[in-house]
Amino acid sequence: MKVLVTGSGGREHAIAWKLSQSRNVTRLYIAPGNPGTGEHGENVPIAADDIAGLEAFARKEKIDLTVVGPEIPLSLGITDAFEAAGLRIFGPTKAASVLEASKAFSKGLMMKYGIPTASYGSFDDPGKARAYVEARKPPFVVKADGLAAGKGVVICASAEEALSAIDAMMVSSVFGAAGRRVVVEEFLRGEEASFLAITDGKTVLPLAPAQDHKAIYDGDRGPNTGGMGAYSPAPVITVEMEKEIISSIMTPAVKAMEAEGRPYRGVLYAGLMIDGGRPKALEFNCRFGDPETQPIMMRLENDLLDVLMAAVEGRLSDVSLSWSAGSSVCVVMASRGYPEGYEKGKEIRGLEEAARLRDVMVFHAGTALRDGRVVTSGGRVLGVTARGGDIKEAIERAYRAVGMISWDGAYFRKDIGRKALLRA
Ligand code: AMP
Ligand code: GLY
Repeated sequence: MKVLVTGSGGREHAIAWKLSQSRNVTRLYIAPGNPGTGEHGENVPIAADDIAGLEAFARKEKIDLTVVGPEIPLSLGITDAFEAAGLRIFGPTKAASVLEASKAFSKGLMMKYGIPTASYGSFDDPGKARAYVEARKPPFVVKADGLAAGKGVVICASAEEALSAIDAMMVSSVFGAAGRRVVVEEFLRGEEASFLAITDGKTVLPLAPAQDHKAIYDGDRGPNTGGMGAYSPAPVITVEMEKEIISSIMTPAVKAMEAEGRPYRGVLYAGLMIDGGRPKALEFNCRFGDPETQPIMMRLENDLLDVLMAAVEGRLSDVSLSWSAGSSVCVVMASRGYPEGYEKGKEIRGLEEAARLRDVMVFHAGTALRDGRVVTSGGRVLGVTARGGDIKEAIERAYRAVGMISWDGAYFRKDIGRKALLRA
């Protein structure tokens, strides 16, 4: 089968790497891909949000399955366009991906169907948002309704901070149209985890739980990023809790989308807050997580193409997943300055040596080729991922590989996986 993966990050490298091992994949294309994905298939210079360009390519090459990486093309209707053209594609429709693209929609759905989440208000009018804050006690979480590349959420310790976040989003339009409507939420305490499942709209097939590290600095300090590292499994999610997450959050969400006339097929990713052993949903995403996908793919033992085809064809009830024992850890190496401004074009050394380590994969994200050399070209540059017999071994192996890789200004957190180690 001919398979196309869209996107260019570490998540897409991990998906392409896994698909390249599938016995039924005859040709693998990645659009636009990165130097890492180019080692497993053919990179095609079409942007991930150029829906017409991707559709024309898929028709011309007779692609059997397209796997969508990022959320923006889903929210623009790539799935609808491909399905209308008779092309198989893995990812929710535009109507279903509103679950990520509008936080007001997603919160409304959770309330209507009794999915545990933080209490909230949703506002189109800044005056009403201010009044909501003034009538309650801090802390608050103020969220732009629309897609804002992970930046549209502000944790506010005081009412003043919440009022200024509301003004920044609704009056000064710092997130453009995404902030025209805001959600103001109760602040939840606890430990976060990422719970991903593949669904064909009926069956919910959970992936191994993972935990992301969103803050830039060790000890979860500093501003949030796209994710500085992840590991799987996440011991904060016990076997009993996993059952509760499936029965109180994942399955109700899929059923709710069906009931709303927006049947959901693809990856359903719940960002969770776990407090006192009870999971609540912070948000839903309509795609694989980045960097959670890197350690998850390192542990998946199934043929990924078989799983995704079963989802697209509504046969997921026939599939069961198996996972390597032990743990996997992904340490993100980033450019100095990220998540603010950073320099690009720094030559990366040590990639080959690190890749030779057993049970290590160096997934590329923000890299580019210049005169045959790999250079930095983004904020998150690499996801150095290792598998180990336990979390300790996986952490040591990942950091051993990180230690072999260098460029001027490379930055990484030194405590990825520590929370799991403390629970082990
Ligand atoms: P979201 O995009 O809604 O997942 O929010 C991004 C990040 O903000 C989450 O990963 C949490 O770290 C934090 N966050 C979001 N909502 C809340 C909340 N209600 N309470 C505490 N932290 C939150
Ligand atoms: N790791 C966070 C995300 O993929 O949204």
